[in-house]
Amino acid sequence: MESTHVCTVVGARPQFIKSAPVSRALESAGIRETVVHTGQHFDRELSQIFFDELGLREPRVDLSVGSGTHAWQTASIMMRLEDYLQGAPPCDLVLVYGDTNSTVAAALVAAKLHIPVVHVEAGLRSFNRDMPEEINRIVTDHLSRWLFCPTETAVQNLAQEGITRGAYLCGDVMLEAMRMFTEKARADLPLELFTSCRPGEYALATVHRPANTDNHARLAGIFEGLGALDCPVLMPLHPRTRDRMGGISPPANVMVLPPMSYLAMLTLTQHAKRIFTDSGGLQKEAFWLGVPCVTLRPETEWPETLSNGWNRCINPTPAAIASAAAEPYGPQLPFGEAPAGTASSEIARILSEALA
Ligand code: UD1
Repeated sequence: MESTHVCTVVGARPQFIKSAPVSRALESAGIRETVVHTGQHFDRELSQIFFDELGLREPRVDLSVGSGTHAWQTASIMMRLEDYLQGAPPCDLVLVYGDTNSTVAAALVAAKLHIPVVHVEAGLRSFNRDMPEEINRIVTDHLSRWLFCPTETAVQNLAQEGITRGAYLCGDVMLEAMRMFTEKARADLPLELFTSCRPGEYALATVHRPANTDNHARLAGIFEGLGALDCPVLMPLHPRTRDRMGGISPPANVMVLPPMSYLAMLTLTQHAKRIFTDSGGLQKEAFWLGVPCVTLRPETEWPETLSNGWNRCINPTPAAIASAAAEPYGPQLPFGEAPAGTASSEIARILSEALA
């Protein structure tokens, strides 16, 4: 009998990380996987380094879409992916991760070609439709046949939109990836490789959301706020942010670094005394590694991280950054754990049984 064939579509760095445990689990379950890279992220430091470092299967094809406006990028991925899927050996499922333009573009193409869509990290909501990612999440969830949710909150969000069929609580694949690679990061990439800062004596910051980068006054305010902290701040800079920094000089205590690989980020995160970020994934990694976080956005799609002050969402003005940096935090209430086995083995098991 022919084995099930999944076409996985990835394009941006968090998706490469999420695919690490899932690809392994699909392989163990005897499910054939073809990986398509949309090329949304194309710089080596945002893309190839993740494949090398995490030992990921190289993509069968790179659609090389590159950057553009949202409509242009989404439409370009759609046209190129449709061509690819129509010419390639047939697949039973298209699997997508998260909330990027690559995610929504692939879900739209697959749904219209009548190929069932699998959405890993389904059901997340920030309830802020000004975020492009929120639009991508909503559309992708409503197109998906299988929806793998990291948390009970995500399952409930879907139920509120009338989606119950095909929705499963399976745990968070990013937690699983983090557990797979934290030891390796500790052994291979000690803190001294990146900085003279001592463990627990620096803050780590990342900024790349359009709401922060594309508003010059707000971006300047974030640098001002970080500049007023009483410790060094390490700041791996996303290309979007670098491009928008015209006229802003980083304050003396803010050390701007190139984008980091996943293992390097795990090293920097686990030794930081506090994290300042607008990334979704880093909020969670901070929580799981026991580092308090300040989210440079007024809301989060990961409300569990807010428990007992472990994460605080702010409108990122200098004053709000200063006061959030001084806030206390209490005991943690864990989240993202797989209810059975691991998140990725649950995903592989459910898909195998459904398609047997
Ligand atoms: C995208 C996702 C976001 C995810 C993030 C992870 C969407 C809408 N957003 O945001 O959900 O958290 O990836 O990083 O899909 N650029 C480069 N080199 C690259 C890639 C991008 O220079 O390899 C530049 C582009 O020219 C562009 C900017 O970075 O100006 C933003 O890239 P884009 O693909 O729009 O999305 P991200 O901001 O990375």
